[in-house]
Amino acid sequence: MIEKLKEIKVKALDETQKAADKKSLNDVKVKFLGKQGELTLILRGMRDVSPEERPKVGAFVNEVRSAIEEEIGKKEKAFDEEELAKALASEKVDITEPSKFIQRGAIHAVPMITDKLIDICVDMGFTVVDGPEVETDYYNFEAMNIPKNHPSRDMQDSFYISENILLRTQTSAVQSRELESRKPPFKIISPGKTYRNDSDATHSPVFHQCEGLVVDENVSMADLKIMLSEMMRRLYGEGTKVRFRPSFFPFTEPSIEVDVSCPNCHGDGCKTCKGTGFLEILGAGVVNPRVLEIAGIDSKKYTGFAFGMGIERTSMVLNSIPDLRTMYKNDVRFLNQLR
Ligand code: DAH
Repeated sequence: MIEKLKEIKVKALDETQKAADKKSLNDVKVKFLGKQGELTLILRGMRDVSPEERPKVGAFVNEVRSAIEEEIGKKEKAFDEEELAKALASEKVDITEPSKFIQRGAIHAVPMITDKLIDICVDMGFTVVDGPEVETDYYNFEAMNIPKNHPSRDMQDSFYISENILLRTQTSAVQSRELESRKPPFKIISPGKTYRNDSDATHSPVFHQCEGLVVDENVSMADLKIMLSEMMRRLYGEGTKVRFRPSFFPFTEPSIEVDVSCPNCHGDGCKTCKGTGFLEILGAGVVNPRVLEIAGIDSKKYTGFAFGMGIERTSMVLNSIPDLRTMYKNDVRFLNQLR
């Protein structure tokens, strides 16, 4: 049996040496070490070996197996190295070759304006808060001093989900919630989605607004005007003229509307501003004492001011975009030109 093993060893080592590639090397491995391999088969003869001889023969079997395994292993490694060297030589990457043009995305108008506004307002000491888009009639209207059958509800054609639940028509709904849950003094802004049943070149059923609210002692219209003027200059650029006009909102008294000089003609008058030199951009006012009282805030002690602006509207004015719908087409060439 020892002789037979020696013979197998010589044969196996010889065939290993001769193997010309990985596949034939594997064949050798199977032929000698596999389940039906020569070495495995010969082990079955062990039972014919006398018990005294067995340990010696057993040790020799192991020796032969290790020798063959080692030799095959070496050869395998050599083949792998050869393969790698070949690959490295043939698969060179030319890093100086011009790359394919990959179009990069662009930041959309809505987050761009929202982020700018947040930066400006946080710098002025505002806290950013969030509110639900599916809102109760109470927070969206009632608590903002817009009772049922109030004519101003007609201005905001709403998507009702049930009698008392709707998609919020204005971020002003966040005012009601914050007034109810916070203790003055506080300064908050709340950007987010709003919904109205309206769709044309300047209206979309889903659009974005940003609400602002300041409540403190001795807050006045003068504070509001100073703050909005500064905010508009930072948003629309140094040299922007700001104009205030009287207006009406149920939740502010007095109410104002704010115009900025047309960024296209800088106030001279052009097609964008219909020759007026100004564009209307937001609503604001001194918080109606009734709104404070509804939320349980002492309106003798505290006053406040609020503002609300459309995000898409801001981008349209800033970039002289005539049709809101181009903004939702997401054409990167268009979006890349926005500021
Ligand atoms: N909520 C108003 C709207 O959607 C905008 C507005 C006007 C918000 C005056 C305010 C405000 O906070 O004081 O038309």
